[in-house]
Parts: sequence; structure tokens; C-alpha cells
Amino acid sequence: MAQEVRGVIARSKGAPVEIATIVVPAPGPGEAVVKVQACGVCHTDLHYREGGINDEYPFLLGHEAAGIVEAVGDGVTDLVPGDFVILNWRAVCGTCRACLRGRPWYCFATFNAAQPMTLTDGTALSPALGIGAFAEKTLVHSGQCTKVDPSASPAAVGLLGCGIMAGIGAAVNTGGVTRGDSVAVIGCGGVGNAAVAGAKLAGATKIIAIDLDDRKLAWAKGFGATHTINAGQGDVVEAVRELTDGFGADVVIEAVGRPETWKQAFYARDLAGTVVLVGVPTPDMRLDMPLIDFFSRGGSLKSSWYGDCLPSRDFPYLVDLYQQGRLDLDAFVTETIALDQVEDAFTKMHHGDVLRSVVVFSGTELA
Ligand SMILES: NC(=O)c1ccc[n+]([C@@H]2O[C@H](COP(=O)([O-])OP(=O)(O)OC[C@H]3O[C@@H](n4cnc5c(N)ncnc54)[C@H](O)[C@@H]3O)[C@@H](O)[C@H]2O)c1
Ligand SMILES: [Zn+2]
Ligand SMILES: [Zn+2]
Repeated sequence: MAQEVRGVIARSKGAPVEIATIVVPAPGPGEAVVKVQACGVCHTDLHYREGGINDEYPFLLGHEAAGIVEAVGDGVTDLVPGDFVILNWRAVCGTCRACLRGRPWYCFATFNAAQPMTLTDGTALSPALGIGAFAEKTLVHSGQCTKVDPSASPAAVGLLGCGIMAGIGAAVNTGGVTRGDSVAVIGCGGVGNAAVAGAKLAGATKIIAIDLDDRKLAWAKGFGATHTINAGQGDVVEAVRELTDGFGADVVIEAVGRPETWKQAFYARDLAGTVVLVGVPTPDMRLDMPLIDFFSRGGSLKSSWYGDCLPSRDFPYLVDLYQQGRLDLDAFVTETIALDQVEDAFTKMHHGDVLRSVVVFSGTELA
């Protein structure tokens, strides 16, 4: 039977988000209804609200979440009600050209629920990244549910569902950071600081954190940055070169999503080094650079979609590292908030006051 729950929607471009009644259908074949326990506020939710992703309003926001499976539809064999899961936006299909070539982290035909969630008047909602978890319950494809250790804190491990996985994966999977590398990270919000943490996990010996905001840089030190640069106080490229014997870093991760910071990443990199773009630009942004520089500096220029993660491989092991005290996911949770405080959380994000605000639903144990 369909159920009515409360959820946070963005109704039109730029308008503040609002709480609405959401109709969640009973799960159909291959689908699952998940009782959401916690969901982080990611910059991508704000991009949706502002029309930076597409125009398919109204959006049901929220996509960095953990919860408990409540019900599954026909044909679902790997989940049962009661399972503790992190929601993912990469439910791999197994049959697209990427999957068939053994590269499922690029899957080009990921699964989402087939049925829409709606408003009470029947208007279909577009769930952010196919998830829509600023809601007491959400309908997803069963492949979007990754089972992890149920003793972990939902507010902390839910963050692996998007930004923190994207940042760790940008360093470890896309950037291929390895022991002894020098790494620079431009933009140290939740995603950038997760890249700092990922670089540390991978054994980088020099980790340079760069942001305009000293609070972000102080957090970066906690996640493993060995050096920090305030981007507002001088030439970022020169500063990175000074810290790397004049050469530049082996891997530079751009976690802002702007042409000027991408250019800094390009030139702050050693010859034959790697640039990883994990920040998401908007369609109007342009770059104008000498083509000869691309040739003569060599190396590799990559984008990182969701940290090139494979949820079934990466979520459980990162939860294990968290449980062992080797990955401090709690430190990303700056505050926990109620469902009606998402708009305030966007303001705080905008002011740089938080790494992550996390909506925690009543009745959730914070472990
Ligand atoms: N590729 C992916 O799969 C993926 C997944 C999640 C988020 N993202 C994107 O990653 C980006 C970061 O997300 P977030 O949640 O960490 O956002 P955030 O707003 O918390 O962090 C952005 C940081 O960049 C800093 N910054 C802004 N301008 C700067 C400049 N000129 N120089 C240095 N630092 C600067 C800000 O001070 C802030 O700390 C966003 O574009 C988001 O959409 C990408
Ligand atoms: Zn596929
Ligand atoms: Zn996100």
C-alpha cells in the first residue's frame, strides 16, 4: 500500500525548499522502500534547488543517506526488511558497455525505482540523484541499497552515499594516489576534505589543503593535511610549487567546480602528474588555455563521477575502516538537524560554517 510521509522539496528555481507530503508507493518488482535514518546536505542538493542540474521540478531533495529496509518488491533476493543500508546512486546494471567490459564503476545505465514518488495531487517528483532521502521513507531500486555493518552510526556512514565517497574516491580511485605521493586539494568542503582523508589512507606523504576559509583548513589538518594554503592570500600555484621543491604535486584534486580553480589545479601539478575534477561546474562555465600547455605538461586530466566508486566494494570496507577508528567519518558531521532545517543548512553551507549538516530522523539511534 502507498504511504504518505513528510519530505523536503524544491518546487521552482531558486525558491526556498519546503516540507510537503510525499506519496511513497509500495515497492514494485526490483524496488525497495527504505525508512531513512539520516541524510546529509550536499552541495549538489543546492545545485538542484538552483536549477544547476536540470529543470525537472519539483525535486525531492536529499541523497546522502542511510536507513533500514522496510519492504521489498517481487524478485528482490539480496535484501530483507530490517537490513541496514547506505543508499547509492550507482546501482550497476551489469549489461551496459561499461559493465560488460569489467568497468562497472562507470555503469552508463544505473537502476532507479521504476515508479514515481508523487505529491498528494499526483504530481511526479524528481528524486535528487534518483534517491530523494530528505523524506521519512523513500522508494529506490533494490540495487541502490548497499548493506553495511548495522552497528555503525547512520549519520556518519550515510555520508558515504555521496560526497564523502566522491572525495575519498577522487583521491584513491580516480587519482590513483599511492604511497609517497604529494597531493594538493583545492576546495576543502565535505568533498575536498574527504579527498584529504583519502590521500592519507592511500599513503600520500605530502597533503596540501587549499581553501579560502581558514576554518576549512583547520578541519583539513584534522583529516591529514600536512600543509595548508589560504587561496585568498597569494598565488596558489606558486605556493604549491614552493611546498613541492618547485615542481608541483603529483596529484591535484579540484573540489570546487570552477574554471579558475581548475586552472590552478592544472598548473600546480608536476609534469606528467594527474588532475582530478570532482567539483561540478555549471553549463555556462568556460576555459581558455594554450593547447601547447596540455601537450607539454603531459600527464592525465580526469573527471571523477562519484569517486569512481563501486558501492558493493567500497562502502563496506570504508565502514570497516570507520569502525576501526582509521577513517573519522564523525568529523564530517558538523551538526545534526531536523527535516525542517534544510534551508538553514544551505545558508550555513554557503557561509562555510559546516562540512556537513545531517538530517537525523526521530527515532534514530545515533550510535
Ligand atoms: N563528482 C561527484 O561525484 C560529486 C559528488 C558530490 C559533490 N560534488 C561536487 O563537489 C563540490 C564540492 O561539494 P561540497 O559538498 O564539498 O561543497 P562545499 O560548498 O561544502 O565546499 C566547497 C569548498 O570550496 C571552497 N572554495 C570556494 N571557492 C574557492 C576558491 N576559489 N579557492 C579555494 N577554495 C574555494 C569553499 O570555501 C568550500 O570550502 C560541489 O561542486 C559538488 O556539487 C561532486
Ligand atoms: Zn552498466
Ligand atoms: Zn551529493
